[in-house]
Amino acid sequence: MSVTGTVNEYQRVVSGMRPTGPLHLGHYHGVLKNWLKLQYEYECFFFVADWHALTTHYEDPFDIEENVWETFIDWLACGINPGSCKLFIQSRVPEHAELHLLLSMITPLGWLERVPTYKDQQEKLREKDLATYGFLGYPLLQSADILAYKAGFVPVGEDQVSHLELTREVARRFNHLYGKEAGFEEKALGAVSKMGKKNANIYMECVKQYQETGNVESLEKGQALISAQGNLSLGDRERLYGYLEGSGKIILPEPYPLLTQTAKLTGLDGQKMSKSYNNTIAIREAPESIEKKIRTMPTDPARVRRSDPGNPEKCPVWPLHNVYSTQEQQAWVMQGCTTAGIGCLDCKKCVSDNIIESLKPIQERALEYKNNIRLVKEIVREGCEAARDAAQETLEEVREVMGLVHRDK
Ligand code: TRP
Ligand code: SF4
Repeated sequence: MSVTGTVNEYQRVVSGMRPTGPLHLGHYHGVLKNWLKLQYEYECFFFVADWHALTTHYEDPFDIEENVWETFIDWLACGINPGSCKLFIQSRVPEHAELHLLLSMITPLGWLERVPTYKDQQEKLREKDLATYGFLGYPLLQSADILAYKAGFVPVGEDQVSHLELTREVARRFNHLYGKEAGFEEKALGAVSKMGKKNANIYMECVKQYQETGNVESLEKGQALISAQGNLSLGDRERLYGYLEGSGKIILPEPYPLLTQTAKLTGLDGQKMSKSYNNTIAIREAPESIEKKIRTMPTDPARVRRSDPGNPEKCPVWPLHNVYSTQEQQAWVMQGCTTAGIGCLDCKKCVSDNIIESLKPIQERALEYKNNIRLVKEIVREGCEAARDAAQETLEEVREVMGLVHRDK
């Protein structure tokens, strides 16, 4: 993918999750399965967003501590591999807060007031007083979470796309304000000369084409050329990308969302599975509890008696079969339901057995981590350190261009 403002070698992925309670099947199919794939394709940073949880749960923070560790256990149990990604806690990397503060200086209030989740969530969570400074600013905190790592991609759901848009606007404004280092043009041309004569000529041709005609192919060709130069420093690369686009140096590249493919999993009542609807199955739910929750689910209202035929399309149990049952089992349900050949309890038993079976290895791994919480804490400690190193590098650059270095020697 190559979009204006995206820098190809920034192949980092960052995503966060609020520690709001046990991971359920909706999270698993909507978020975790995506992470499992990404962890082998990109350099991934996954964190528990404890500060984000405080923006809405500031009155009852006591669950946060326990939920943080339980969330990591859930991720690890699902197969998130600490050898391939950094797992960390947002508040253990104070650079997120520093960057949030610094970005707040250049972010117009209107941009935050315009984010659709601001009004939506206030409406939805009426019982909470969310007319706070922290709540208004939390999409910008999210921007800082992402920009601190110069991430190129952010796996999120549809509801978070507006936060990514804000992040791109803020990054653009930042680069516009601070990307103009003294002597940018000379430094950029100095970097060009380090590319070797032939490449330098091709690059300058791309610059000319792109700036005269806006031809995206020239932009992409120029970007590919820069990323193929092994001998250039990071600073020089940033200058070359910026010079190509006609902006200054790109200090904070613009991130793009990676939308989750899977449709939202329906919950026990046929609505979207979500903790706030109280219709979830947790990935660590006990088998007896899963069995009971499914047994008591509503079904197609037409099936009052065992002898009444039904229609799976009108039944909240059916979407679970679509995810958890084999083709043959689904055909058996379709046939048996529409002809009253099977009872709802037979049908439900089949899907609850399948769910229980598929969660078994996850639950076994969760138990191992639960019994070895020291290992979990060690993984997270290392993740925090690695994340901090990465975020510090960005913050050094940011402080420098914002006039905050103050060397005392
Ligand atoms: N705001 C996200 C949510 O509520 C969580 C989050 C916080 C996040 N920071 C992030 C997601 C950075 C992606 C990247 O789900
Ligand atoms: Fe739903 Fe299955 Fe009963 Fe049909 S047989 S109504 S699909 S639970």
